[in-house]
Amino acid sequence: MGGAGSNLAALLERGVGVELVVSHRAGVGALAIARAHRVPAAVLLPSRYPSREAYGEALRQAFDDAAIDAVAMAGFLRWLDAETVQAYRGRIFNVHPSLLPAFPGLHAIRQALAYGVRWTGVTVHLVDEGQDTGPVVAQEPVPVEPADTEESLAARIHAVEHRLYGDVLQAFERQRFFVSGRRAIWRP
Ligand code: GAR
Repeated sequence: MGGAGSNLAALLERGVGVELVVSHRAGVGALAIARAHRVPAAVLLPSRYPSREAYGEALRQAFDDAAIDAVAMAGFLRWLDAETVQAYRGRIFNVHPSLLPAFPGLHAIRQALAYGVRWTGVTVHLVDEGQDTGPVVAQEPVPVEPADTEESLAARIHAVEHRLYGDVLQAFERQRFFVSGRRAIWRP
């Protein structure tokens, strides 16, 4: 599930098994990357569904049809409905460009620069009913340099995302991943 698709590309290059790519927008980079790697892709536009619940039903139908084990979100900027979260609890991952709980939501890199923090970073977490509130799986700090722009900081954050997300998802694939309450225990 993605946007520009840089995380998807990194996961595919690393050999993480991707059965289906779902985008909530048409014409995004992730769809072209899916095509290039011959991975089935679907565009599910939220505006075509009457409610978040109806959208969730369509997502679950697509997931069930592809018999997926886990969901990896990257730039999927939609809240999932409670039933979808429940159906895949502990198996829906998200990558977020800050050290949560700092700077949740949209434009996390811009928020960190505006606040003036010296360190920000990357969080991989499990998705729950809240916004970026699920159990933390992995975090890695990234320093903010005095001359950083949103673009330069984003480039360093993305490089960390691409490595860290693959580490986590590969651990999940290899069944080296367990969750107990808010604690996720895993090894690469
Ligand atoms: C990633 O940087 C991810 O951390 C961010 O969207 C980007 C997607 O990039 N997600 C959020 O900001 C969620 N609030 P990609 O499509 O190139 O993987």
